[in-house]
Amino acid sequence: MFPTCSCWVYDDEEEWFRSIFVNSKKEEAIQNQYEFFVQRMGGPPLYSQRKGHLALIGRHRPFPLTHQAAERWLHHMEKALENTPDIDADSKVKMMNFFRHTAFFLVAGDELKNQKQQAPCKYKNGGCKSAAP
Ligand code: HEM
Repeated sequence: MFPTCSCWVYDDEEEWFRSIFVNSKKEEAIQNQYEFFVQRMGGPPLYSQRKGHLALIGRHRPFPLTHQAAERWLHHMEKALENTPDIDADSKVKMMNFFRHTAFFLVAGDELKNQKQQAPCKYKNGGCKSAAP
């Protein structure tokens, strides 16, 4: 059982956060998250079979991923974990660590996007583009 939920799409308290998801389809967003987490946490590569490389920074490119947005996203994921009793306490800590790490990895990626991309990639074959996760 994975803590995929659409609560962030319907954030009743923070309109600014909900507006980030204004063009998202709830069912699709849940499916994407579900397949991504199954794959990223060691299960079968459901996400890549359907959509290719994980490329999280690139896929979040259209959205404003500020520190504040990351904290709000993490708040929702924490709530989702709390509401998922099948996951043991140790796994919850590991998952929250992974979420926090990745959320701020995305914030850093978003900040780079705003730097007008003046400096071209120094690697011959565009090595920067293939960054994980
Ligand atoms: C930092 C705050 C974040 C915000 C505001 C955010 C926002 C969004 C939005 C608006 C979408 C499009 C929804 C859809 O239609 O699927 C999306 C997609 C997605 N997000 Fe995030 N996200 C955040 C962090 C994360 C993190 C930390 C992860 C993983 C640990 C993640 C994983 C995904 C995945 C797998 C998709 C589907 C991408 C696709 O296949 O198009 N997101 N996110």
